[in-house]
Amino acid sequence: MATRNIIEIKDLTKVYDLGAIQVPALRGINFVIEEGTYTAIMGPSGSGKSTLLNILGCLDRPTEGAYILGDEDVAHMNDRELSRIRGARIGFIFQSYNLVQQLNVVENIHVPLFYQGKDIREYYDHCVKLADKVGLADRLDHRPMQLSGGQQQRVAVARALANEPLMLLADEPTGNLDSTTEEEILDILDELHGEGRTLVVVTHDDAVAERAERVIHLKDGLIDRDILGGNGKPKKQPKPAKPEEPEKAEDLREDAPEEIKEEPSREKQEEKPEEKKAVDLPPLPGEDEKPDEEPRPAIITSIKLDEADLPPLPVDLDKNQLQEDEDKDEPFRIKLKLKDKLDDGEETPKDKED
Ligand SMILES: Nc1ncnc2c1ncn2[C@@H]1O[C@H](COP(=O)(O)OP(=O)(O)O)[C@@H](O)[C@H]1O
Ligand SMILES: [Mg+2]
Repeated sequence: MATRNIIEIKDLTKVYDLGAIQVPALRGINFVIEEGTYTAIMGPSGSGKSTLLNILGCLDRPTEGAYILGDEDVAHMNDRELSRIRGARIGFIFQSYNLVQQLNVVENIHVPLFYQGKDIREYYDHCVKLADKVGLADRLDHRPMQLSGGQQQRVAVARALANEPLMLLADEPTGNLDSTTEEEILDILDELHGEGRTLVVVTHDDAVAERAERVIHLKDGLIDRDILGGNGKPKKQPKPAKPEEPEKAEDLREDAPEEIKEEPSREKQEEKPEEKKAVDLPPLPGEDEKPDEEPRPAIITSIKLDEADLPPLPVDLDKNQLQEDEDKDEPFRIKLKLKDKLDDGEETPKDKED
């Protein structure tokens, strides 16, 4: 069974139009990301990582080129459609966790489902299972303030899984963690990869890139190197090669030094032997699992939140929907400004004006 592509990017460009100045942030990017793969995106400051992440996460649209996510062409979608895709198909993990402080672990995990109008009473067991999966079964009632950074990031990982996304998209997921905690989070990501999840991680962190099976290096808005085999270190949970084609799989990894194990073209990727089983998309959460007990009493069932308390992505998603009729473009601009603020002191367009 052929592995399906989760992402297909073709001749993708992004030019920020600042009126007097045009900033070409992506200048023609091509790649395919197959289901079940673990890809790190790296590159120096200003190389276009955030821009690419925003586009892959359906937070922004490319200027030109194609972006197929799953089986949908998202490059030309309007804000409402992009919001829908984000909420339903992408699980986000952020550097700063972005948990809702007033909600406990289970309620935080439920947030993406909340945005889809799904009642926590119906999805309580699903959320508890996810908490258990990331090792927080004994912390269900804790609020973010009562958790360590690593535990908060575990909640964020569980939240990212809540809506059974097509892929997990992480932005510097280990950036705020000490090295021991970082290992724990990376172990969880490895585990998810081992289960057949598709992971795309934007990172400065070599430790992340070492776990990934592929590293795409950006430079000046172009792919500089596209390396299979991560940074050359073995993964913790290598996937078994298919019995009939094991040598080919080995060839890719061992014949050449890593710097020339490039994967420059789509054709080459398509020749690649299947290394892992294609995984059928799991059913929507709750679709085949009904809670068999009465819902627990002490849960918030209708969440009233201040906008400022909400994690940015779902809020943007909501904002887009709310503001869409008033202003088609403004929500994206608001979001990008917020993102600039969150960025780690890297050059922003504001620095460039005049
Ligand atoms: N919202 C924006 N408006 C204008 N220019 C931008 C914007 N965001 C990024 N840029 C510019 O695009 C280029 C790539 O930036 P970015 O994607 O943030 O790179 P990275 O995340 O790798 O540091 C840089 O030259 C940056 O100044
Ligand atoms: Mg950036």
